[in-house]
Amino acid sequence: MAKEKQTFCLEGRFQGFMAGSKSPFKYLSVHGADDQHVVKLSKSVRLMLFRYLQVGDWIRVIGEQSIDQETGEPKLKAKEVLRVKPLEVVATPTSSVASTTPPKAKQKKPKILICQKSTCRKRGAAQVCRAVESTLANYGLTDSVEVKLTGCMDKCKAGPNMVVMPQKQRYTKVKPGQIPEVIAEHFQQQSNVG
Ligand code: FES
Repeated sequence: MAKEKQTFCLEGRFQGFMAGSKSPFKYLSVHGADDQHVVKLSKSVRLMLFRYLQVGDWIRVIGEQSIDQETGEPKLKAKEVLRVKPLEVVATPTSSVASTTPPKAKQKKPKILICQKSTCRKRGAAQVCRAVESTLANYGLTDSVEVKLTGCMDKCKAGPNMVVMPQKQRYTKVKPGQIPEVIAEHFQQQSNVG
């Protein structure tokens, strides 16, 4: 029987990963305003997240919701997980997600893409992510610049790799210490930067 799927967008505090039969990171638990939700992670999302998220982080989860044919319970599967700042968080009850407006991910806004595949991670991509997010927060840009974790950009030896959109400016061998300068250069006009 075909399952009807609807988009959901859920925000809340990351509570931790939960194991499935084949992976210790098969699900994540997020506490929204209304309740605790368990969201299944696709393999690609899982691989990017397990070093990146820390318990207590505020996150936005975007994905598909379907109804379990046996239990009638909603089932959530994440396609994208982003860390967001706490003030931005207004958790949306799962039951009303289906009929709400489309997720913010569809809005066009500047993005910083950061590779989170294994070679870039070994070279410090998680620290780069943290530097990007804290710098955006310092500059008051968390709402206007999206941070997106990506798969391999085919420049592994030059990792960590990062691309700033819409300029499509690529940065290689990125170090956390250079992030404030990069963000100031690209987004100075939209921010409180000096
Ligand atoms: S692992 Fe990052 S570019 Fe290949």
